[in-house]
Amino acid sequence: MTNSQAVQSATEAPFYRAAGDEVDVFAAAARRGVPVLLKGPTGCGKTRFVEAMAHQLGRELITVAGHEDMTSADLVGRFQLKGGETVWVDGPLTRAARHGAICYLDEVVEARQDTIVVIHSLADHRRELSIDRLGATLRAAPGFQLVISYNPGYQSVLKNLKESTRQRFVAIELGFPPAEVEAEVVAHESGIDLSTAHALVKVGHAIRGLQGSPLGEVSSTRMLILAGELVAEGLSLRRAAQSAIVEILSDDQDVVRALGELVDAVLPAT
Ligand SMILES: Nc1ncnc2c1ncn2[C@@H]1O[C@H](COP(=O)(O)OP(=O)(O)O)[C@@H](O)[C@H]1O
Ligand SMILES: [Mg+2]
Repeated sequence: MTNSQAVQSATEAPFYRAAGDEVDVFAAAARRGVPVLLKGPTGCGKTRFVEAMAHQLGRELITVAGHEDMTSADLVGRFQLKGGETVWVDGPLTRAARHGAICYLDEVVEARQDTIVVIHSLADHRRELSIDRLGATLRAAPGFQLVISYNPGYQSVLKNLKESTRQRFVAIELGFPPAEVEAEVVAHESGIDLSTAHALVKVGHAIRGLQGSPLGEVSSTRMLILAGELVAEGLSLRRAAQSAIVEILSDDQDVVRALGELVDAVLPAT
């Protein structure tokens, strides 16, 4: 499987195919140091987009994966015992503010409200971080930019962001890319040819288009890539779609059977 961390090196640009004008919007926000809200379903390319933008802008990228137990100390930093001494260790948010890096809070929906308040003063015109435990206030270095991603389909802590804070962000909506672009992405990432990738994209569209779907998630670009990787390893399209998409989307036997039939109807007869 393609690991985006491993792909990204200091010299090599992460592969990213734009779906619309998101690159221009992000670059404009970055020039002004304006924080960005990235909205979109799981597996649509949010993380890859930020990696590509950081590379293009020549900024360091510090990514924090949100989880429900995350505390403000996980973001800001804490005192740690080192060889009998107590030393302060910056958290990722503090490090990014100090070094003028992009701080990417990935899927921050998971974090609790009292954790997320620490970003308020960094997101607004103050661009500063108060580090209570040090009794200090840190002014963000030029180049610092806050980027937050979330899936608007979920209950989100960001819906409870102070309105005054939320209004300091610009939002970029990243849906699944248009079919042409998505097929190119699937082909590139999995190593299958473009026409095979198009067949998988058709499967993806059929599932996304289901009315009254009982599914919590839909067939994401990431799932289509995974199916492509199985095809590249010699499995049939059907088998790959069954394993990488259908069985992942549901455990309910009736739903799995119905999705399987949909896949059969969409895929070219072999
Ligand atoms: N527009 C795109 N250009 C290049 N790769 C993409 C694009 N969209 C999705 N991908 C691929 O899909 C995978 C999942 O995307 P990711 O950025 O991890 O999704 P998200 O962060 O939205 O959950 C990436 O690792 C990448 O291989
Ligand atoms: Mg992500």
